[in-house]
Amino acid sequence: MDSSPPPPPCFRGYGRRWLVLLRVLVPMVVLVSLVLFAVDSKSSALWFSSYSLSSPPVHGGDTSGEEVLEHQSGVVAQSHFNHSGHASHVSPPPAAAPSPAPQPAPLPVENNGTVEAIPLPQRERRRETKLKRLELGLMRARAAIKEAFQNHSNVSPLFDKDYVPQGPSYRNAYAFHRSYLEMEKLFKVYVYEEGEPPLFHDGPCRSIYSSEGRFIHGIDMDTWFRTRDPDLAHVFFLPFSVVKMVKLIYKPKSFDISPITRTIADYISVIAERYPYWNRSLGADHFMLSCHDWGPHASKALSHLYGDSIRVLCNANTSEGFNPRKDVSLPEINLKTDVMADMMGGPSASRRPVLAFFAGGDHGPVRPLLLQAWKGRDPDVQVHEYLPRGVSYYAMMRRSRFCLCPSGYEVASPRVVEAIYLGCVPVTISHRYVLPFSDVLNWKAFSVQVSPEDIPDLKRILTAISPRQYIRMQRRVRMVRRHFEVNSPPRRFDVFHMILHSVWLRRLNVRLLRHE
Ligand SMILES: *[C@@H]1O[C@H](CO)[C@@H](O)[C@H](O)[C@H]1NC(C)=O
Ligand SMILES: *[C@@H]1O[C@H](CO)[C@@H](O)[C@H](O)[C@H]1NC(C)=O
Ligand SMILES: *[C@@H]1O[C@H](CO)[C@@H](O)[C@H](O)[C@H]1NC(C)=O
Ligand SMILES: *[C@@H]1O[C@H](CO)[C@@H](O)[C@H](O)[C@H]1NC(C)=O
Ligand SMILES: *[C@@H]1O[C@H](CO)[C@@H](O)[C@H](O)[C@H]1NC(C)=O
Repeated sequence: MDSSPPPPPCFRGYGRRWLVLLRVLVPMVVLVSLVLFAVDSKSSALWFSSYSLSSPPVHGGDTSGEEVLEHQSGVVAQSHFNHSGHASHVSPPPAAAPSPAPQPAPLPVENNGTVEAIPLPQRERRRETKLKRLELGLMRARAAIKEAFQNHSNVSPLFDKDYVPQGPSYRNAYAFHRSYLEMEKLFKVYVYEEGEPPLFHDGPCRSIYSSEGRFIHGIDMDTWFRTRDPDLAHVFFLPFSVVKMVKLIYKPKSFDISPITRTIADYISVIAERYPYWNRSLGADHFMLSCHDWGPHASKALSHLYGDSIRVLCNANTSEGFNPRKDVSLPEINLKTDVMADMMGGPSASRRPVLAFFAGGDHGPVRPLLLQAWKGRDPDVQVHEYLPRGVSYYAMMRRSRFCLCPSGYEVASPRVVEAIYLGCVPVTISHRYVLPFSDVLNWKAFSVQVSPEDIPDLKRILTAISPRQYIRMQRRVRMVRRHFEVNSPPRRFDVFHMILHSVWLRRLNVRLLRHE
């Protein structure tokens, strides 16, 4: 009898035989790539510490890979490069001015001989060797991506059987593709097995917070990127669900989230006690993920979780400590069922009679401005607090050329992804919001950004976009849709893999050296 538990609720589609086959194949792939890096360590690897596709080709950050490794051998210092070289936690979102060429990374402390005197236990030493190999692999990936940046204009697109990113929807389509393929070749995630559902290894599969549960279940079921050997992992996932914690251990109306932060802090102290990895990097190669409004507050459980770990958050508000250089903006996706088909697709521009549409509650800092300026004012700009009886929300989005996505209580809005699904060009109206995947996607090519002050001008701004320009934008909306689609099991280039790719880019910004 097969007594194994049924797959988690988000992922009914998985076939077992497929899983078993991958379990055999994946370790083989891992072995092969390790050997490659081991034999190829002579080639000089370049690296850059800041991966922002808005940057000009990188100068000045180069260090020979060989040299870095030599400096590291026998060194006590653990170093976590924080990319910017200055202390500020809040850097401008990637869409802002190009970041300066990265500074050469500070060199680790020279070995003064004291370490050699105390031989490391053998296991520890083996772990060191593995970490060096991992870092060498990352160094090579940085070099490949960097070369892709520099050569993108004079090379033909990379081969891909599924999809080739191209065109102005990307900041640099060729470099993104290169980076994505490097990720598939190399990237390994360790998911801590500690923690029981529903607070851990679980999360909502439906509702406005579905991105949280879908990812947690997705990485738990994953067989390509997930490794069971933590010594082979580039990043470590902390599989807690803030949504489940709010539901189950928060006392309603108490406004006291300490039961949540305590649970998270306890969890991290358990994994820091049982494994060497948290202490080794102070969390810099660890990541958490939450779509709940309180995700950022929950991450304050520990200052290193907040300030050093990669935090994947829907609530990507730069005024609340979201740091786009190390944190990842997670799309908010309001999934009501598992059937995506009726949320997908919509007519061309000529069959969209309404210029702009919004319906939603009057809350947060932005929406009152929108409702005051436009509610019931103009049949072209349909702004509703409540939709009239019998009018379908999705049908309205399909009838509209532009879908307005103002921030609510928090910066993110599920309307952005709904609009993309339904072929409506999103108009984001927010302050301090870092749009999802904006280090890869060029949002200006397929959406409109309006600042809250310009709300009275909305109609003028949107009518100034010519029909030809609109058709181009709408075509790009259809093209980037794949990056927001939720599949079970996940498919290449979909939202699950785009989230992983964002984490991969953040991991490339960090280099781990040996720790005592
Ligand atoms: C970043 O590094 C600088 C020195 O290079 C340090 O002073 C600063 O505290 C660091 N900031 C963070 C957020 O770690
Ligand atoms: C060697 O390193 C140890 C530990 O970092 C330090 O205490 C000691 O002063 C160093 N010695 C020299 C000669 O730099
Ligand atoms: C990329 O450009 C560099 C320098 O311009 C050149 O040496 C290298 O061969 C190019 N690589 C590819 C794949 O075209
Ligand atoms: C990590 O550091 C904590 C606090 O400093 C300590 O209690 C724990 O034992 C350390 N973990 C390991 C595996 O050494
Ligand atoms: C973002 O953070 C700031 C500072 O805490 C806050 O005033 C604002 O309301 C937040 N949310 C939005 C939607 O801007």
